[in-house]
Amino acid sequence: MKEDKALWSGRFKNAPEELMKKFGESISVDWIFYKEDIEGNKAHGKMLNKIGILSDEELVSIIKALEEIQGEIETGEFLPKESLEDVHMNIEHRLIEKIGDLGAKIHTGRSRNDQVLTDYRLYLKKEVKELKMLWAALMETLLKRGVKDVDVIIPGFTHLMHAQPISLGHYWMAYFWKFQRDHQRLKNAYMSIDANPLGAGALAGSTLPLDRQYTMELLGFGKNTENSLDTVSDRDFLLDLQYALSTFMIHSSGLAEDLILWNTQEFNYINLPDGFCTGSSMMPNKKNPDALELTRGKTSGVVTGLFNLMMNLKGLPLGYNRDLQEDKKPVLENLKNVKMVLSVLAQVIEGIEVNKETVRLHLEKGFLLATDVAEYLVMKGVPFRKTHGIVGGLVQYGEETGKDFKDFSMKDFKRFSSAFDEDVYDLLSFENAVNRRNTLGGTAKEQVHYQIKEGWKILQQEKKE
Ligand code: ARG
Repeated sequence: MKEDKALWSGRFKNAPEELMKKFGESISVDWIFYKEDIEGNKAHGKMLNKIGILSDEELVSIIKALEEIQGEIETGEFLPKESLEDVHMNIEHRLIEKIGDLGAKIHTGRSRNDQVLTDYRLYLKKEVKELKMLWAALMETLLKRGVKDVDVIIPGFTHLMHAQPISLGHYWMAYFWKFQRDHQRLKNAYMSIDANPLGAGALAGSTLPLDRQYTMELLGFGKNTENSLDTVSDRDFLLDLQYALSTFMIHSSGLAEDLILWNTQEFNYINLPDGFCTGSSMMPNKKNPDALELTRGKTSGVVTGLFNLMMNLKGLPLGYNRDLQEDKKPVLENLKNVKMVLSVLAQVIEGIEVNKETVRLHLEKGFLLATDVAEYLVMKGVPFRKTHGIVGGLVQYGEETGKDFKDFSMKDFKRFSSAFDEDVYDLLSFENAVNRRNTLGGTAKEQVHYQIKEGWKILQQEKKE
């Protein structure tokens, strides 16, 4: 067979321009699907045999040739050609080269439009399984840090200002739950991915009695797609995946930002592990939090990948359009980056050392116990809105005199409200403040332990699935 001749060239008088070949190729991206393409070819061949289009001997020769092709690819003996456009044409072309006319039977009842989706969906199922394992490992790291740091009290922030004291374990668990929801989104994406498109043909199905149920079973898909026209144009499964990856990255970027701040000289709450920081080419003093900065930075690329795909799909006429060939790069790139971020974050979080002394000093700033004092007055029968004003006055007084609540005399307290009693001093401990927030989902030690217990249960369940 003439090497450069496209398998679709029959109706053409002239060969494609060299520029068109360069412009139209997708082999530089989709060669990554070679295994799935071969798997799809085998299943399609078996089905053609089942419905009487290929004889048993023909099927045996085709399967044998396909396996040889896989070997040739893996040893580097067979390299794809750009002139053959994509992975499908390269493998089919090689099959025909090897077994002649028999190879030319494999594309019966099939189009690249359903073939590319078969490859892509099979490939993504494996990728999502790998992602799920990395995800679970990160969530496990957070659970372990939750246990380790449950007694470390840090200032909790709103508006990046000291608000109320919280357990550091509670902080880690906040990210556990965010990642758990992202993980759920990933599982939803898996369900959209797990449908057999093979048999949809170019757009309308086939005049041949293709057995889609059989290819579905052979390829291990959970179901068949319902409508051939929908099938060849549907890229929702990619949007679902990109969305799950994007929310994960948005969450990760926030976590990275906190850790970058906590690692600064100004905060100095934590030390990041050396192995995930880099130095400066000029300043010998530097240890920069590059792994976390890159996590923050790569978020824009991942979210752009989601938008890229959305823009590609907007307003497309129904059916396959070549625009859809551009659906791979943004997804493959995102998978690569998210897999790295999942591993990097788990290792960074595991390696963090907390500077407990410094954190303790920070707790003294910003009247973190103001809400506790206001709620104390509520329990003495003062309406909350009034207590808010009273404690606001105390804070102002404290700021003017440079004193904290615990430095106030009973007389000081009484000047602001006669409802204050000696027992107010019992409140003024950060441990008490944290552990008294014992509402469901609150920061009290008991609640954090409960969350961790629930988290483990979910994770064990996920691992079984
Ligand atoms: N390489 C193409 C893709 O990735 C294959 C699909 C079909 N091409 C075609 N001209 N109908 O989408």
